[in-house]
Amino acid sequence: MSAQAALPGDATQGKRLYDASCRSCHDAGVYTRKERRVNSLEALRNQINGCAHMTQQNISDTNQRDLVKYLNETFYKF
Ligand code: HEC
Repeated sequence: MSAQAALPGDATQGKRLYDASCRSCHDAGVYTRKERRVNSLEALRNQINGCAHMTQQNISDTNQRDLVKYLNETFYKF
């Protein structure tokens, strides 16, 4: 079993959350650009918290987990 499959969360739900609240400021280009900032799962979690904070939203642990899984499977693949 790969590390990806072992990550907890629901990527489908993560995508739904992402489509609903993450597309207003940046498109998916930020995850694939060469000089991207996130280089670990830990950094990804921190960045998601930071972004949610900017929108004055509090993100639940479950939502964060689903977003991490979705973004990791789709773009980062740590
Ligand atoms: C209020 C505007 C805003 C919203 C809404 C927002 N972000 Fe961001 N996000 C940013 C900014 C600004 C950056 C930094 C871009 C840069 O460094 O050029 C960023 C960067 C990121 C990165 C890092 C990309 C990299 O370089 O690897 C991730 C991951 C990310 N956002 C995820 C999310 C997620 C998930 C959500 C939804 C919960 C979200 N963002 C919503 C403003 C926002």
